[in-house]
Amino acid sequence: MSEQKSAERGTFGRMGFILAAAGSAIGLGNIWKFPYIAYANDGGSFVLIYLAAILLVGAPIMLAETLIGRRTQQSPVGAFLRLAIEEKVPGGRRWGWLGGLGVFAGLAILSYYAVVAGWVVYYFLHCLRWSFQGFSGDATSLVTEFQGFLANPGLQIGFHGLFMTITVLIVILGVKAGIERTTKFLMPVLLVILLAMVLNSMRSPGFGDAISFLFHVGPIHASGVLEALGHAFFTLSLGMGAMITYGSYVSRGQSIPRAGGVICLLDTLIALMAAVVMFSIIFSVPLAERAGTFGRSSTILFTTLPRMFYDLPAGTLIAPVFYLLVAFAALTSTISLLEVVVAYFIDVREWSRRKASLVVGAIIFLAGIPSALSVGAVGKLTHFQLPGLPEGAQGFFGTVDYLATNWLLPVGGLGIALFAGWVLSSKLTREELEEGHGGRFSLFPVWRFLVRYVCPVAILWILWEVLNGRSFA
Ligand code: PHE
Repeated sequence: MSEQKSAERGTFGRMGFILAAAGSAIGLGNIWKFPYIAYANDGGSFVLIYLAAILLVGAPIMLAETLIGRRTQQSPVGAFLRLAIEEKVPGGRRWGWLGGLGVFAGLAILSYYAVVAGWVVYYFLHCLRWSFQGFSGDATSLVTEFQGFLANPGLQIGFHGLFMTITVLIVILGVKAGIERTTKFLMPVLLVILLAMVLNSMRSPGFGDAISFLFHVGPIHASGVLEALGHAFFTLSLGMGAMITYGSYVSRGQSIPRAGGVICLLDTLIALMAAVVMFSIIFSVPLAERAGTFGRSSTILFTTLPRMFYDLPAGTLIAPVFYLLVAFAALTSTISLLEVVVAYFIDVREWSRRKASLVVGAIIFLAGIPSALSVGAVGKLTHFQLPGLPEGAQGFFGTVDYLATNWLLPVGGLGIALFAGWVLSSKLTREELEEGHGGRFSLFPVWRFLVRYVCPVAILWILWEVLNGRSFA
């Protein structure tokens, strides 16, 4: 690609890429989902397996996606096509479908992700009100209140629309002025706020219990291994080409292995920090009152946590700040989800960024409406159940989430691992991973082994388990 064309597409600065990619990775998956599934799987050993999944499956695929993106300077569809042609793969054009799957996954995930992100904004405003006017909730009233909010079609669609609008406005501004500038500002703020919260939680009575819960070694359940692997994909934004797209904006002077390592580390660190903060609050509450806390995964953040926050000495300050932090984390993820779809229309259909952002944003907003209405507002959508899917995948929202997490991401990840490990030559991948690295990438043989053997086997195993009726969402 010519210098001029690549300047038109936009290129991240060195820290710009790391922060934007870390921003994509760090989201509701870290702050809401990770603590919950860690709790559901008894902490300790689950955390260890999750760390292993990040290291053995997540990190290699992170490097694979980024190298595919930078090599081709294309979003997923164009990237696979170009490389398949360059490497003269028989029937090469069919790899374009893998990119198409990613674009579709981006659209599907963003449609419901923005709904949950909208809840976070609503609770941020709600907490501001509580902080100024006094907190009046008890366990039952908070649940009723949250259910009332979920069943309110205007609020559901309104906050989903608000979040989509903010996301579109940032993506319109482009790679440097929009994505890089926003994430460069938000990510350090997020880190600082979370660090302050961790320091604060060290003084809470539940801190010791939280640490020993998270880092003790206990029996390992097979189901926990499965969940850890699935979550590694979701949390690192892998399997749908988000990192291919962001990789296409990486400059040739940047080391992909080093950047990828930092991104995986930051994502893991934030998940652990969020878990420490949440568990410190939860373990500060007497056991009897804690019962049922984690009964329903999707509601904890909005029903149990506010009450626990306002029980703390500095709760009036912490509560709104916390929701603001979660909203920031979600925003840097929704930006990347939208960018995957927008970049496809720019690269392959040659639309302008403005047109692509507005049209795609509007489509995803509309696609999210059934999800927004399926958490209580419309009975038919709320109780919708596809035959063959587990009970947990109920409602339109639950169904899209289930299919995207359990099918689209692992299948996409499998395709990417096979492509990078078996279709691309070792010469090409080594060249790209060493470009900008300033010397040999000594772990290259390890990376290649993981991508060729460990990742496909692990993913096929997940899919096999899902086919046999196991959900790891
Ligand atoms: N990684 C994000 C999170 O943890 C979610 C996400 C998935 C973002 C896939 C982009 C692509 O919340």
